[in-house]
Amino acid sequence: NRNDTEPHIAHVFRGTFVHSTRQAPVEILTNSLLGVDDEGKIAFIEKDQDASRLSKIWGFETSKIKQLEQYEFLMPGMVDTHIHASQYSYSGTALDLPLLEWLKTYTFPVEAKYKDLEFARNIYTKVVRRTLKNGTTTACYFATIHTDASLLLGELADKLGQRALVGKVCMDCNPKVPQYKESQDECKKETDRFIKELLKKKYPNVKPVVTPRFAPSCSSALLSQLGEIANNNKLHIQSHISENKEEVDLVKKLFPDCKSYTDVYLKHNLLTDRTVMAHGCYLTDEELETFHETGSAISHCPNSNISICSGMLNVRNVLNHKVKLGLGTDVAGGYSPSMLDAMRRTLDTSKALTIQDPQHQTLTFEEVFRALHKCVPSPSALSLDDQIGNFEVGKDFDALHVNVCVPDGPVDVFPGEGPEVILEKFLNLGDDRNISAVYVAGRQVVPFPETQLSVGTF
Ligand code: GUN
Ligand code: FE
Repeated sequence: NRNDTEPHIAHVFRGTFVHSTRQAPVEILTNSLLGVDDEGKIAFIEKDQDASRLSKIWGFETSKIKQLEQYEFLMPGMVDTHIHASQYSYSGTALDLPLLEWLKTYTFPVEAKYKDLEFARNIYTKVVRRTLKNGTTTACYFATIHTDASLLLGELADKLGQRALVGKVCMDCNPKVPQYKESQDECKKETDRFIKELLKKKYPNVKPVVTPRFAPSCSSALLSQLGEIANNNKLHIQSHISENKEEVDLVKKLFPDCKSYTDVYLKHNLLTDRTVMAHGCYLTDEELETFHETGSAISHCPNSNISICSGMLNVRNVLNHKVKLGLGTDVAGGYSPSMLDAMRRTLDTSKALTIQDPQHQTLTFEEVFRALHKCVPSPSALSLDDQIGNFEVGKDFDALHVNVCVPDGPVDVFPGEGPEVILEKFLNLGDDRNISAVYVAGRQVVPFPETQLSVGTF
């Protein structure tokens, strides 16, 4: 009873589905059926339904149902709200200097190499594959100042099937490493070209994001131009804010007319409901109020905050101010490309704050689970909330097929453990070996198809 113009069912799963809803940070549906249509959208999710009735309504064969086993479940794909694709080559090293020294010594010399497109292709291929394999279905990427290499990152994300926001980095001030920057005029022209060319490709799940590196790298004139470009084109914006104390003092010196770091971005029209600012460790309550009023989000990057001794963001205080919050790996300031690591480091930092101050209300693993794929409070930090984030009918099917019990895997299970325990064990102990498939907009992108195994230089 369905006609040919309506979408057909591409996948049906039966088993346990775990996600977050507006009401509950963790909802576990057992013995349920989830259908995905051939446009990659969730067609139905129903508990205790008899499959034959659904198969008649939707026109699929019950023999095609994928049955999840006892220690398997589906959960939404994870969203990395802050990652430097261009820094992936040295992730796991270079963690011995504080931010400003770290940028000058390690980061800028490496990023300068992305003028070479073959160099870029190798590393960008690897970072997209590595993050996809680890369950990052959406990544908000910083590339470098090079337009062509940034376009290549967009092309690779599309080809390998990751949902991505890609930012060509903008910076017209770099007194310590002057060979790695652009003029203000070049920055504007190249940002315009980057946006135009990326949009022209019509990739369904890859979009440009306006990316001033951070206030100390940008002239006031450049910040204003970028605010204008973002607002005229209704684009996302990403940058860094209040990551370390030395940086906060530097911004005070560089922008004496602004009353805070937040005020710098506010005055240049860069705080919108499509903005994601990384770190925010030293934001005052007044600054957090500005974030709330403008609808801007914070990307919490705990691995990076600890690894380069930047600070500890009080996420509880951010949530109390009803500021949107997502999690980020901040590779390579953060050494791990895994969002499961970002979740664990988030809990560690919260517990360290409780050790310092027993009045501090520690985050629960359920709250942090929600922030993995759905920013809190909704709508999402990436303003993709109507499209992704959980398993509601009509949303894109971005999902992980988790199997907690794989041979020689990192998790042991014992009799009597139900889905709550299995979920918590996966979140605390699991890794990519437990992620047996990854879907983005209904397309299975992990395991990698054979034809993609030869992409890049290995
Ligand atoms: N602030 C400005 N640039 C960067 C960067 O590349 N990484 C981090 N962690 N902070 C920054
Ligand atoms: Fe960063």
